Amino acid sequence: MDKGRILLAVTGFHPQRWHELLSAERDVVLEPDGPNDPSINYAVVWKQRPNLLTGLPNLRAIFSIGAGVDHLFQDPSVPDVPIVRVVADNLSRHMTEYVVWRVLDHHRQGALYRAQQARKVWHEPQQRVAHDISVGIMGLGQLGRAAANALLGLGFCVNGWTRRETRVEGVSTFHGEAGLIPFLNATDILVVLLPLTPDTQGIVSYDLLRELRRRNGLGGAVLINAGRGKLQRDADILRALDDGTLKEASLDVFETEPLPETSPLWNHPKVFVTPHAAATSDPAHLVKPMLDQMSAFERGEPLLNLVDRAAGY
Ligand SMILES: NC(=O)c1ccc[n+]([C@@H]2O[C@H](COP(=O)([O-])OP(=O)(O)OC[C@H]3O[C@@H](n4cnc5c(N)ncnc54)[C@H](OP(=O)(O)O)[C@@H]3O)[C@@H](O)[C@H]2O)c1
Repeated sequence: MDKGRILLAVTGFHPQRWHELLSAERDVVLEPDGPNDPSINYAVVWKQRPNLLTGLPNLRAIFSIGAGVDHLFQDPSVPDVPIVRVVADNLSRHMTEYVVWRVLDHHRQGALYRAQQARKVWHEPQQRVAHDISVGIMGLGQLGRAAANALLGLGFCVNGWTRRETRVEGVSTFHGEAGLIPFLNATDILVVLLPLTPDTQGIVSYDLLRELRRRNGLGGAVLINAGRGKLQRDADILRALDDGTLKEASLDVFETEPLPETSPLWNHPKVFVTPHAAATSDPAHLVKPMLDQMSAFERGEPLLNLVDRAAGY
């Protein structure tokens, strides 16, 4: 197979760095030469324009710039070629840092100390033991498993919920619809690392949050969402925080992004907001493996980290 040409199709951020690094090895264009451009062999995409990829007759594969591919499927006309998503140590490490940071902040009562400092209060609350806290991770994929291992290393009990039956050493695993309530009932701090699919959209609802465990001196259940905003219902989270169903939340993702200025989540005293920044796709780490995959594919080797279209992730 000859050395294929790349269409780099991104919206929402400047493609310059991706363009520079991809161009080091291959011919890269930012727009096809007409709707049926035969010269395009690969598409590297983030929230591409609808129908952009539809008519390209020689498209061999699509590479998503992120681990999640929900942005791709917002265009129902995405052609039936293999879709490769990002799996990278660099991304897993950033996500693990975010999850550990937020779990520890809730566990070690960061919000209380910040409020005390503002009032110059010298008071030491009782310290809890990590082993008494169960962190439940929805989604034990590349990112969820890495975070689970780090939390186990810190002494937390870890539960995991997946679509199919899964085993991860040291983690109590649950799966499918039947496993969801038992998983929630055994979880004090809920970490959401699911992909956004038709099955998972809106899953983090008030009714789900009500099932979380509330004991072990945490003073209430905690939600951490670093998956996708449309997994959650912002209004349900506010309701849960306001009536005590949730003690606190750390949210990296929101139903609407950027989070509108009018959202009460911005100023809520029990909410820690980050701007979809838990684990950013860094071209310095991701372009080389992408280019290597294209070369390997052209030598006849299989593509790795393929998306299962039927499952949507
Ligand atoms: N905030 C950020 O900065 C950021 C950065 C990167 C990624 N993300 C998000 O993180 C998500 C996870 O990434 P990943 O690489 O870990 O994905 P992954 O390897 O594909 O893992 C997805 C996990 O979710 C589970 N799952 C999917 N659908 C489910 C369902 N209906 N019920 C129960 N479990 C279900 C899967 O179960 P099985 O094991 O049974 O397949 C798997 O364990 C991405 O899709 C993306 O949305 C966010």
